[in-house]
Amino acid sequence: MKQDKMDIWMPDAATSLYGIIGHPVGHSLSPLLHNRAFRALGLNCVYLAFDVTDLEGALSGIKALGIKGLSVTIPHKQSIMRFLDEIDHVAKRIGAVNTVLNKDGRLIGTNTDWIGAVKALEEEAGRLDTKKVLVLGAGGSARAVVAGLAERGARVLIANRTLEKAKDLAEQFDARWYSFDELPDVEASIVVNTTSVGMAPDLERSLIPSDLLPKYAIIMDIVYSPLKTKLLRDAERAGCKTINGLRMLLYQAVAQFELWTGKPAPVKEMEHALREAMEPDK
Ligand code: ATR
Repeated sequence: MKQDKMDIWMPDAATSLYGIIGHPVGHSLSPLLHNRAFRALGLNCVYLAFDVTDLEGALSGIKALGIKGLSVTIPHKQSIMRFLDEIDHVAKRIGAVNTVLNKDGRLIGTNTDWIGAVKALEEEAGRLDTKKVLVLGAGGSARAVVAGLAERGARVLIANRTLEKAKDLAEQFDARWYSFDELPDVEASIVVNTTSVGMAPDLERSLIPSDLLPKYAIIMDIVYSPLKTKLLRDAERAGCKTINGLRMLLYQAVAQFELWTGKPAPVKEMEHALREAMEPDK
């Protein structure tokens, strides 16, 4: 059957290229998010996933090919920093880059994970400057979440399995730190899990015993596979508001899109793309 040519968008000689670099990247939802956004706005841009182990080689390729922007994921978020021409102060403070802008051949690193975390929380909690937020974990993701909370003026409490890492992160951001054993005595209105606990296949684990949950108003998990972690299931049962990991993923991509294109992102379309991919039955 003859297809209507106008219905199919095709890249051409003027198409701008964007992408994600990581290893592995096969399951990344970023190509879906950004391509849906490009199509929604009718931009002549395309976004691809690159499985990269030779980071330095990939970056000289990015420059040589004129690729306009990159998302950066595990394991390159820290190691990429030494190869970039410029890193903004927020990415330096977090110690990780998740976004690169190719500005006239200069690769500029920034971080939008903190924006994603803060926007996801503000949607449910409103202003954060009056809130006490307990962050579970002290790894790379925790650093972005804590930096975002500090930026918004929230009071931050950090609990981590390895206490020394909680202490180091807390000292950098003027926060308090705790071991998980101390959780019964920790007062906060919001909890954010930044650890991998609860992620498939670890489906039946949660760092917060369910009897402690009723004292918190909002529980956010940055894990999105599964969408409802044990922590979020327990939190719903305890009457807390819950925020799943797709919200942070969505808003960090929205911030990337706006940085690269200078246009307001089509948030609703991006959200629908994620829903279709993650909740096909809804
Ligand atoms: P990411 O970049 O995704 O944050 P990371 O930097 O490796 O990954 O950090 C992983 C976080 O999850 C850490 O806070 C880690 O705790 P430790 O600092 O004690 O290692 C936490 N984590 C991972 N597996 C865990 C588990 N089984 N129980 C408790 N915490 C865990």
